[in-house]
Amino acid sequence: MAVLPITLFPEPVLKQVAKPVAKITDDIRKLLDDMAETMYAAPGVGLAAPQVGVSQQLIVLDPSSNRENAKPQLYQLVNPKITFAEGEIEWEEGCLSIPGFLLPMTRNSHVIVEAIDRDGKDITIDADEFLAVILQHEIDHLHGKLLIDNVSRLKRDLYLRRLKKILKDGGDPTTMMG
Ligand code: NI
Repeated sequence: MAVLPITLFPEPVLKQVAKPVAKITDDIRKLLDDMAETMYAAPGVGLAAPQVGVSQQLIVLDPSSNRENAKPQLYQLVNPKITFAEGEIEWEEGCLSIPGFLLPMTRNSHVIVEAIDRDGKDITIDADEFLAVILQHEIDHLHGKLLIDNVSRLKRDLYLRRLKKILKDGGDPTTMMG
């Protein structure tokens, strides 16, 4: 396994709609494992393939990874789709591709996601609260949607200036979502 470099806003791959995976090969499984290792190393609670420069519908997430001594709960999902959504929850979200940027978001508090697992089996995840928020955030990445799309152009430009400084200082000042 390997820790991969994380693509940062405004790299174009983050704005592309990711392609569905036609067949789960050993290369796809290796990529899912590298994505998990990259997520844990960041540290983050989720990561989508475009964030490692690959425009394919793959996400990994682990809602336990920001809590100490929690049992690991890793999901590695291929072609995930939200098939049901209800309720509202507010969450202050960050993103590994947008270091230092946090935004309160209103998400659905309950979602059902259908996907394929690393062995090619169909799986259904019935998720509430934090897990539901992470799933929505990561699936947004597969549609080229970023947190920062929700603020004005002026605020995006201000952030880009701040990002240059963050990168120059070598710092990554916040704990990110994914
Ligand atoms: Ni993100």
